[in-house]
Amino acid sequence: MPRSIRSPWLFESAWEVANKVGGIYTVIRTKALVTAAEYGSRYLLVGPLNPRTAPLEVEPGDAALVSPALKDSLDAIHAHGVRTVFGKWLIEGAPSVILFDLGSLASRLDEWRGDLYHTHGVPAPPNDTETNDAILLGYATAWLLGEFLHRNRHDAVIAHFHEWQAGVALPLIKHRGFDVATVFTTHATLLGRYLCAGSVDFYNHLQRFDVDAEAGTRGIYHRYCIERGAAHSADVFTTVSHITAYEAEHLLKRKPDGVLPNGLNVIKFAAVHEFQNLHAMAKEKIHDFVRGHFYGHFDFDLDKTLYFFTAGRFEFRNKGVDMFLESLGRLNHRLKQAGSKTTVVAFVILPAATQSFTVETLKGHAVVKQLKDTVADLQKELGKRIFEAAVRGDLPDPATLLSPEDLVTLKRRIYAQRRDELPPVVTHNMIDDSKDPVLSAIRRLHLFNNRHDRVKVVYHPEFLNASNPLFGLEYEEFVRGCHLGVFPSYYEPWGYTPAECTVMGVPSITTNLSGFGCYMEEMIETPADYGIYIVDRRMKSVEESVNQLVDQMAQFAAKSRRQRINLRNRTERLAEILDWKRMGLEYVKARHLALKRRYPASFAERSARESLTPSPQDGGKSYRDVYAPQDSPIAPSGQQVPKPRSTPNSPRLKHAHLMGDDDLGDHILDKLDELGVGHDDDDDEDDDEHGGH
Ligand code: UDP
Ligand code: G6P
Ligand code: GLC
Repeated sequence: MPRSIRSPWLFESAWEVANKVGGIYTVIRTKALVTAAEYGSRYLLVGPLNPRTAPLEVEPGDAALVSPALKDSLDAIHAHGVRTVFGKWLIEGAPSVILFDLGSLASRLDEWRGDLYHTHGVPAPPNDTETNDAILLGYATAWLLGEFLHRNRHDAVIAHFHEWQAGVALPLIKHRGFDVATVFTTHATLLGRYLCAGSVDFYNHLQRFDVDAEAGTRGIYHRYCIERGAAHSADVFTTVSHITAYEAEHLLKRKPDGVLPNGLNVIKFAAVHEFQNLHAMAKEKIHDFVRGHFYGHFDFDLDKTLYFFTAGRFEFRNKGVDMFLESLGRLNHRLKQAGSKTTVVAFVILPAATQSFTVETLKGHAVVKQLKDTVADLQKELGKRIFEAAVRGDLPDPATLLSPEDLVTLKRRIYAQRRDELPPVVTHNMIDDSKDPVLSAIRRLHLFNNRHDRVKVVYHPEFLNASNPLFGLEYEEFVRGCHLGVFPSYYEPWGYTPAECTVMGVPSITTNLSGFGCYMEEMIETPADYGIYIVDRRMKSVEESVNQLVDQMAQFAAKSRRQRINLRNRTERLAEILDWKRMGLEYVKARHLALKRRYPASFAERSARESLTPSPQDGGKSYRDVYAPQDSPIAPSGQQVPKPRSTPNSPRLKHAHLMGDDDLGDHILDKLDELGVGHDDDDDEDDDEHGGH
């Protein structure tokens, strides 16, 4: 009997399950809500145990409560000395996670590496830790699946793997003939990332690379074999954008079956303009940082100061940090020449190897805090003196309100702010200061935070979190407080950072070499009107792209406050097109296709819609109930998403990059409306009212 496809189980495996590294963590974490709504307790995430962060991310639980078959499967593995953590991931949707303690599997590494070579032809060297971990995770996941399939012989199981680090399981599953439908999603290609980080003209040569030789030259042939093996072993192969699909086709030699663009969980505030208030509040905190950082040179007007930033993993060229810094140098020149009163403070948030915060940075914040405390004390004293005078029916004498002692204390605080050196361009002591590419560019461009500079630079070589002593802000709050995110990437399969800006109503700059940029360019007729600026890095020379970026930043810097507020309102309206409620549909289709390829006979018997009727026993609202896919494979080039029933100032959507069933569009839009993902009727006049400053 073939397995029933009525209530399939979903195992989803990634290196970044409850383990933050970069964007894949964001994919899995934010998608969990819609996937858990669809699969209920049949949704299981599998990843490596990160002992440092797992206790904060996961609440341990009992697998027996999910399913006896799962509990028995885990017990069978535990009986061999393998340790796992099972529990609820403390995120929206609270999915179950199974985290493998890779240390407890280490004794099997040689055997598994040998098997990978002899059975699958992957020659992994012993000293590549990342690959060793991928082997352990892959073999352990395949082991778990085997145990589960043995114990649950009734339900179909879908196993979805993300990126090569989780992909080792796929060739194993295929070779062992497991009765499971598989999906592999790659969020980049290894070769693409490596080649772009060098000085190769990547996009013009994509079709002509000798992939084996290129991988060999870069010492990643074994990783490349894993990635390519995973892509070819999966029933369904997908990636996150068309640009990466094209790349995968040429570098991995399999054309993806579809594109699964990344979504986000969009928060709808009860009050429409709440996100504007959040911006103002977060900006105040950034102001505090700036007062401390620039002490002694704090001669610019915060009311005329704009905060630009870039953030991401340290991929200097791929993330376009080189282009950002170059453009800042030119923007500085332009603003100075124009005699602009605007100051741009540009933050570069890129984790690099550091020792600690610099003394100078910490001192600045201490000095300003002391001043703040002193002023608060004086304020109290002043209040008392005014009150004492007034209660006697007198007006206080302004000349005596501050005593000579008060003035001395105040003077001491003011003098403490004097310093000869310029405000630092970096907040930390770097391990390799002289070779750091960001610092080298800053030095070359003479962006030294001089008084006359209109562009100031602050390089913070560490991700942000609330316990950070300088900002005391979570990354998300920091983004809200900024005015413009700048992400001029050269290699960026998707690029969450500008997408996150968008849903928070913060305008951003991206490129037409990023999956997100291409997606927005296709979805919106005039992206710049909605705060999505797209640098052309495809058809233009580097020089031209830099100039375009400078123009975009300069135009943004010239906007009035009212214009910025308007733009933020428009940007925030785009959030709906990035919502997982919409994007998640592509995942539904990919899984559906995997089932269909695995169990074609079951699909021939009944219509796809019937076969995907959710099983009510798991409770929870069924996502599939809302977006029941039709009976057709996801296609590599998308249908059009019809225009929204637009109100005057709503964004006009152009093409969909949503892949798939030709007759699905209307149905989706109707259902979007039902879900409250429709279009609001606000127009920009309201925004002007709100922003009447
Ligand atoms: N990020 C973060 N803290 C920071 C800067 C970035 O948590 O200080 C997160 C950001 O929210 C985003 C992820 O890192 O979700 C980066 O993902 P992206 O897709 O942009 O790039 P990737 O690192 O995957 O290449
Ligand atoms: C939000 C707040 C306003 C504030 C404005 C500042 O819109 O609701 O009260 O004036 O932000 O905007 P800006 O672009 O100057 O940071
Ligand atoms: C990768 C890519 C990034 C993408 C993320 C999530 O790490 O570098 O562009 O946003 O995966 O798909």
